[in-house]
Amino acid sequence: MKPGKLTLTQLADMKGRGEKIVMVTAYDAPGARLAEQAGIDILLVGDTAAMVVLGHESTVPVTMDEMLFLTRTVARTVERPLVVGDMPFGSFSVSDEDAVRNAVRFVKEGGADVVKLEGAGPSLSRAAAIVAAGIPVMGHVGLTPQTETMLGGFKTQGRTAAKARRLLSDALALEAAGCFSIVLEAVPTPVAARITEALTVPTIGIGAGPECDGQVLVYHDLLGLTEGRAPRFVKRYANLARDIRSALTTYADEVRSGAYPATEHTYAMPEDELELFSAERVEQVHRGG
Ligand code: KIV
Repeated sequence: MKPGKLTLTQLADMKGRGEKIVMVTAYDAPGARLAEQAGIDILLVGDTAAMVVLGHESTVPVTMDEMLFLTRTVARTVERPLVVGDMPFGSFSVSDEDAVRNAVRFVKEGGADVVKLEGAGPSLSRAAAIVAAGIPVMGHVGLTPQTETMLGGFKTQGRTAAKARRLLSDALALEAAGCFSIVLEAVPTPVAARITEALTVPTIGIGAGPECDGQVLVYHDLLGLTEGRAPRFVKRYANLARDIRSALTTYADEVRSGAYPATEHTYAMPEDELELFSAERVEQVHRGG
């Protein structure tokens, strides 16, 4: 473990003190570095990389090797934030053994501190097996994008009493399986509040209201790098898409007009060397070289 790394005990103590836990996704070195400088506690190398970095329509296509590449980049960049490797679709669906094998890859090859996996049901024995192998696990219930088709689309979960009870029992079961924290995604505020109260481990909400122990947002969403309609829970703290497009447009205009590069962006050479160089050129022309 890197010196100064946020420990799971410190994380649990934060819940105890009512101190909010801040998590954001990270996929590359500049993003991870800025997040650490901003004092973010947890960096999730999320499978949302499939959509916001790799250009896919959903999180499903991202592979273990792609996730490991991104996780390695984030892990080598930061010291204090806990780095969570998000197990992609298919990497924990076959068997407990396969899930453990892939979780071990996240730690050994990706440098992740912990892993996250979606769902309850079969994910309960996967989580327990990974924890038994010595790797801490973050759970994720509510809207679980990897199984979006089975859930009937990107919809709020737990809106009926029966479904809310189910979510609560799934969260409790994940805690019993050994998860050190649980993400609650797109869950009504009172349901998330009840789950947060019932669990001893911290909950991290995304679209789950203010009473969760912490919050997570996707880096590209909160910085306004994604555009157009966003889920209700997204707050854009910047409009980087606009700023980046404007900078790139100005650059293109200046290259085309010759305004860039200006003298201050160029390198000079000593006058005497330049004279020699120019004289050599004249000689070459005279020799027909
Ligand atoms: O992959 C991801 O970014 C996530 C968050 C939305 C919680 O799972």
